[in-house]
Amino acid sequence: MTVAIRTVFPVLDRAGFHYLDSAAMAQLPGAVMEAVAHHDLTARANVHRGLHELARRADDAYDAARQSVARFLSAEMDEVVFTGGCTMALNMLALALGEALGPGDRVVASVAEHHSNLLPWLMLAQRKGFEVVTLAVDDDGRLRLDDLSLINEHCRVVAVTHASNVTGAVTDIPRLAEAAHAVGARLVVDGAQMVPHGPVNPRALGADFYAFAGHKAYGPTGIGVLWGRRELLAQLPPVLWGGGMVGMVGLDGALPLDPPQRFEAGTPPVAQAVGLGVALDWMSGLDWPAVTAVEMSLTRHLLDGLAALDGVRVVGPLKLEARLPVVSFVAEGCHPHDLAHLLAERGVAVRGGAHCARPLMTALGLEEGCVRASLAPYTNRADVEALLDGLDLAFKVLR
Ligand code: ALA
Repeated sequence: MTVAIRTVFPVLDRAGFHYLDSAAMAQLPGAVMEAVAHHDLTARANVHRGLHELARRADDAYDAARQSVARFLSAEMDEVVFTGGCTMALNMLALALGEALGPGDRVVASVAEHHSNLLPWLMLAQRKGFEVVTLAVDDDGRLRLDDLSLINEHCRVVAVTHASNVTGAVTDIPRLAEAAHAVGARLVVDGAQMVPHGPVNPRALGADFYAFAGHKAYGPTGIGVLWGRRELLAQLPPVLWGGGMVGMVGLDGALPLDPPQRFEAGTPPVAQAVGLGVALDWMSGLDWPAVTAVEMSLTRHLLDGLAALDGVRVVGPLKLEARLPVVSFVAEGCHPHDLAHLLAERGVAVRGGAHCARPLMTALGLEEGCVRASLAPYTNRADVEALLDGLDLAFKVLR
């Protein structure tokens, strides 16, 4: 299975190269690279503006890409907004939903959020006067959902990650949806880490809005997706104004188009959207129960290997239930950056540091951060072995 998947990714041909940083940036299938190049060669034009042949082809390609995203999310096409990335999608949501918030209102996030699903709310709260409170995590870094009293009658928005980019813990979204909807709050879900591990149905999960990035889902950089329930998107104001998103325009103002165009001001990342469509079609064609079984067996091997090393502590759940193949750890006497550096010298790519999740680091008492190995469907046992061997050698240097 992994062997067949690896052949799709040209970069993995390199000998001695062990890529365990897919949570930061996934590698690209050759077909995605070709689709982007082919688009620019045969259909490079602006979209929904031109009547010439290239413009017609660009329109068709862009619409087909939106259709691929909709299929992947079991959603409707007009619920899919293309953005410049997940960070942009989450900022747009904070600005659009936050517009109506003020003193007395509450947003509930969690300490496990990536900065992009927390800072937009914190910064807006300073201007608008609403409060942001956070759900805590347990020792495994899992969101504590045993007491959801923070989600009370003042709560207007719950903004949480579907899966932590540090611990790999998967959030119980249906549980939070129930709590949010019971008080009339909207549920915003950051799907950046979840989506690369299989198709998601945000509506069935109970989410109201869902965001993810192309570059973590085997697609190009500079493209992201904001999904929203059709009826809720239609109630949101635009946050960016410009070409392509307005109907009537006069010197006294303008009327925005319906979603998704309302949220796509200016020239969108057309070729990147086309590439993302191909990436998600590729993902949709995989046998996910089999892929997940391989990912989980490698995660088990990695967790057991780390447990066998002296002075290593895993930052995240030790069990495989509700967990992604994203494994973080700290090692006694070793700074995470030193470990990442020594591993890199042996061709093992991991990430070391705070992972854009400072509040989580503080909550877990990890001021220097941690090392993260993130797996993907193309990861194989040799990659995991190289990491474990590399750590063994790094400890000899650093301790
Ligand atoms: N958000 C990306 C990560 O977690 C960059 O590494």
